[in-house]
Amino acid sequence: MIRTPIALVPYALMLAVVAGGLIWHAGDRIPRLGSVVESGTAGIGGPFTLVDQDGQARRDVDFRGRYMLVYFGYSFCPDVCPTTLAMMADALDKLGTQAGRFVPVFISIDPARDTPRVLKDYLTGFGARFVGLTGSEDAIKRVAKEYRVYYAKHPLDGGGYAVDHSGVIYLMGPDGRFVTYYEDQIGPDGLAADLARRLR
Ligand code: NI
Repeated sequence: MIRTPIALVPYALMLAVVAGGLIWHAGDRIPRLGSVVESGTAGIGGPFTLVDQDGQARRDVDFRGRYMLVYFGYSFCPDVCPTTLAMMADALDKLGTQAGRFVPVFISIDPARDTPRVLKDYLTGFGARFVGLTGSEDAIKRVAKEYRVYYAKHPLDGGGYAVDHSGVIYLMGPDGRFVTYYEDQIGPDGLAADLARRLR
């Protein structure tokens, strides 16, 4: 009789973790961009120098000539990040040969844990297209501010922490300027259709 409750403990913990993940993300705040979303002068984005998943320095200007799809998150994220990254990967797959015009960029807001190596392992699960970027706490703080991304650590009961963060995908033009943004509800078909429209 004693064995059953003990055997259930791992499952109870797992449920607590999953439920907790939903609550943290429920607190995500999307920047209120108002009605000037597609003006191209909304002041979103800016220069950065970060480190990619291969340990190479990458600057914003390195991506000129291609569209950047920029998403901020972290590899320990329990639910929303993986869903969004998978959605972005699906959308690009749907674009076929046009996919090369877009670079999906995942910027970690948890640089303490997201080393280049951790990002490399993590992003492998979403195909070969993603550029994962991390850097010093200061560098991440700066780039997040440029993109008006909110993030905040929350200590967990069992130790460690989660990071509450905005869940917006930014489309930056080949000139590096803000074009528009998406929320993950757009889905892979909707995202692919909108991206294809940008190339016409
Ligand atoms: Ni996340």
